[in-house]
Amino acid sequence: MRKKMIAGNWKMNKVVSDVPEFFRAFSSACGLAKDRSISAKVDILFAVPSVLLDACRTTASGMGIHVAAQNIHQETSGAFTGEVSLPMLSDIGVNATLIGHSERRQFFGETNQSVALKTASAQKAGFLAIVCFGETLEQRNAGQTEAVIKDQLDPVFDAISGLNNIVLAYEPVWAIGTGVSATSAQAQSAHEYIRNLTRSRFGGSADSLRILYGGSANPKNIAELFTKADIDGALIGGASLKPDEISSMVVKALEAK
Ligand code: PGA
Repeated sequence: MRKKMIAGNWKMNKVVSDVPEFFRAFSSACGLAKDRSISAKVDILFAVPSVLLDACRTTASGMGIHVAAQNIHQETSGAFTGEVSLPMLSDIGVNATLIGHSERRQFFGETNQSVALKTASAQKAGFLAIVCFGETLEQRNAGQTEAVIKDQLDPVFDAISGLNNIVLAYEPVWAIGTGVSATSAQAQSAHEYIRNLTRSRFGGSADSLRILYGGSANPKNIAELFTKADIDGALIGGASLKPDEISSMVVKALEAK
């Protein structure tokens, strides 16, 4: 049985002074404030802007909540103005990161190759890497969903040394921030394809790999998504900014079979 993961992605939102109240409200609404064993049953993670990482880690540590960066550079140091390295993050107690989010691909020139390099560096540094990918609406309508996913994942699979510390996040671009989630059947069909692809490269360890769904996941549609065999959690943007919404998604993950 794979442990479910509820991962929030705050994107470029919130400031340091929002952090204590957010985690107070979140932990009290999902029950974590009273019952720390919840974090043993479902992995809870928030990917936050770099300048919020330290405050989030300080506030959330002890609650069993994981804190992640939203991006990293593949090199450990050097002349890369504006970038944040893996050693800088581990130095402040952060050991997880998103990689290749569609907004990074769309607005900041991330490619399948840069995503592969970053994933390999993160894995080598012992980080949990949540690797994001997914097709555009145009690609889906052209019947290219599986081919696009394969093109996105093959370089990552070539670069990593097994599936340890890897989480995959299937996020169809057309569902991100649009209010139009993939149906549970569409998501399951992609997740099943992704698991089979992974199995063909890494054998039985693909059965323990967690594959998250992302794209307008919310408290209303998450229970239905969790009825599907290969959906192991969610990467949540908009709803992760509201403590009542993301906390109710944690509760739904706890209730999922
Ligand atoms: P959304 O974002 O939940 O607001 O659609 C998901 C994401 O970008 O990870």
